[in-house]
Formats: sequence, C-alpha cells, structure tokens
Amino acid sequence: MSSYINIGNLNVINAELSNYCNSACPMCPRFDFDLNLIKERTNNSHTSLEVIKNKIGSNLLSRINTFYSCGVLGDGAMNPECVDIYDYVKTSGASNTSLSTNGGPRNTDFWKALAQTKTHVVFAIDGLEDTNHLYRRNVKWDKLMENVQAFIGAGGSADWDFLVFKHNQHQIEQAEALSKKLGFKKFNKKDTTRWDDFDSDGNWVQRESIQIGDYALEKVERDTEASGLVTTQKSKINDTFQTRKINCFSFHNGNSEIYIAANGDVSPCCWLGDLKMHESKNIIKDYTSININHNTLEDILEGEFFNELANGIQGKENAYRLQTCYHTCGVANA
Ligand SMILES: C[S@@+](CC[C@H](N)C(=O)[O-])C[C@H]1O[C@@H](n2cnc3c(N)ncnc32)[C@H](O)[C@@H]1O
Ligand code: SF4
Ligand code: SF4
Repeated sequence: MSSYINIGNLNVINAELSNYCNSACPMCPRFDFDLNLIKERTNNSHTSLEVIKNKIGSNLLSRINTFYSCGVLGDGAMNPECVDIYDYVKTSGASNTSLSTNGGPRNTDFWKALAQTKTHVVFAIDGLEDTNHLYRRNVKWDKLMENVQAFIGAGGSADWDFLVFKHNQHQIEQAEALSKKLGFKKFNKKDTTRWDDFDSDGNWVQRESIQIGDYALEKVERDTEASGLVTTQKSKINDTFQTRKINCFSFHNGNSEIYIAANGDVSPCCWLGDLKMHESKNIIKDYTSININHNTLEDILEGEFFNELANGIQGKENAYRLQTCYHTCGVANA
C-alpha cells in the first residue's frame, strides 16, 4: 500500500456534490475573467448516491472522520440526492458531515430534512438584504432567510461565513448580531485573496475592482495584505523549488484526505484545480484511471497520479513537483 494517502488511512472526504449552482459569484471558478460561465466545466454533473454507495461504501465511511462538500464549481445543495447522500454517509458511521452553500437553493422542506441528518451547514452570506446579492448574485434574500430559519429551526447546526468587500464592510457588526439572533453557532468574517490570480492564458493578473454591469466590487482598504494561500503565488520560484519541504495539507497531522470532483476525478485536494486544464495534466496519462466512475478508489489511490504527486511533494530526485503544491503547502523558510 502507498505510504501517501491510501484506502487504509483515508479519513476525510471532500465531495463536490454538484457542479450546478443557482448563484453567479463573480470570483467563482465557474466564470472566466470576463464573467462568462465556463460551459464545458459546469452544469453537467452531480456526484450520485450510487457512486457513494458502490465506490466508497458504508464500510469505508464508518472509518471517516469528516465527509464534507465544499466544491469548486457548484453548490452541493443543487444535487437532487443531497439529503439521501448525507443520510447514507451519516448512517454508515461517518463522524462529521458538513455542506458549504450560498443557502439559496431548494425549499424549506429540503433544509428541514438536511437538519435531520445532523449535517453542519456553512452558509456563505456576504452582507445583508441590500448587499448579499452584489456578490452572491441571484440569491434572493427572503428565500435565503426562510431556508436558514427552516434549517436552524429544525435543530440544524450552522455557521455564517461573511466575505468582506467595500460594499458590505460597514455591515459586519449588524450581520454578526443577526447571526446570533438567528441561532448561528459561529460568525466568520473572511477576506478574499481572489483579486489577483492567473487568467485562462496563464498570465498573472492583479485587480483592484471588478465591474459587474452598473456596479463594481471593490477591495477593502487595509494596512496589511490579506492573509491566505494565494498571496504566496506572487513569490518568485527560486532554487528552493525542488527541495523546499512541503506539508501536504491533505496528508499531514493525521489527516488523510481526498477530493472527489462532481465529474468523478479524484485528487488529494481542490487546490490542484481542473485536472485536465491545470498542471496536473503533466502527470496524468489516462484520465479514466483517476476517475471514480471508471475505477475503484483503491486503484486510484495506488495509481500513477497519486504516486507521482507524492514523489513531487516528498522532493524525490527527478520527480515532477507541482507549482501548486510548492505555493500552497510549501513550508515558509524551509
Ligand atoms: C466555490 S464555493 C462552493 C460551495 C458553495 N457554493 C459556496 O459558495 O459556499 C467554495 C468556497 O469558496 C468560497 N468563496 C466563494 N467566493 C470566494 C472568494 N471570492 N474568496 C474566497 N472564498 C470564496 C465559498 O464561500 C465556499 O466556502
Ligand atoms: S455560490 Fe459557490 S459555487 Fe455558486 S457561484 Fe458562488 S462561489 Fe460559485
Ligand atoms: S496542493 Fe499539493 S501539497 Fe497541497 S494539499 Fe494539494 S496535493 Fe497536497
């Protein structure tokens, strides 16, 4: 068995339950830099209950500490089998389950049923009635509040994540007070680092604002740079590239984690991005071999892709090390 993530030590699963979404957040990877929906990558897959049952199964799930859905290209609540999946995962014995969502999809019956599965929900609510939709485009405030109240009212445990922009920064205290009134467990204020990123041609782009029709999303003025993983991408690759120690977040401190994309591709984390578009393509020869719809999980974890990744992470001689691993999980000053 591999000494990296393997079927025996696996204890965390992040399953992107869907690549459909009701919302249209301007910085979401569903969209390109011109805010066009990337049609080839979105609105075509849900992770099915059948795959969860047949390819993961209750035996493995009984050993899982955390099963969560915080995908890249969609919102797990859009999956028609969402409640059945959480129900199956929980009854199989997985200790903790959670879902990240904009809270807009589905009706109150869905959210009440999800609460019964004891799944923790992280609602991404970036403002109040007059501002949430400026980033969470198409999310209707009244429906969102009904859904939140139905979920918490049915005994569901929920956190409120609040992304701070110039247009909502004056509402943080008010939102936190509302979160307490509604019964959220935690209110998490978050900065975004997604102003600066690589565009689809691989060029590094730095932005101060994003124009959306008749309004603009603007950066919060701050004395220090927002903390976060992406800021390190600005650092120059130097001669530590091959040798710097990498603490793979997905295989570190007792954590052994995989990410299953809605299209079935399996990788250690969602930071590697689309495995067909980004640099992982340099070490993947056969896409069926890493896809859970075509292969067993055990064979995927023992296969060439995970093996090559592990060699790169461990800095083995002549191994192909991914820039994402270096930048995301590289240990500073090591
Ligand atoms: C692509 S979303 C998928 C899950 C769900 N649709 C949601 O938005 O919560 C994954 C995570 O990215 C977060 N996110 C969205 N826009 C972001 C941004 N500009 N900066 C940082 N995180 C962001 C979401 O809130 C969520 O926690
Ligand atoms: S709600 Fe999540 S998946 Fe949907 S557009 Fe926004 S960030 Fe993307
Ligand atoms: S980016 Fe690389 S090193 Fe970091 S968690 Fe993902 S696979 Fe591991």
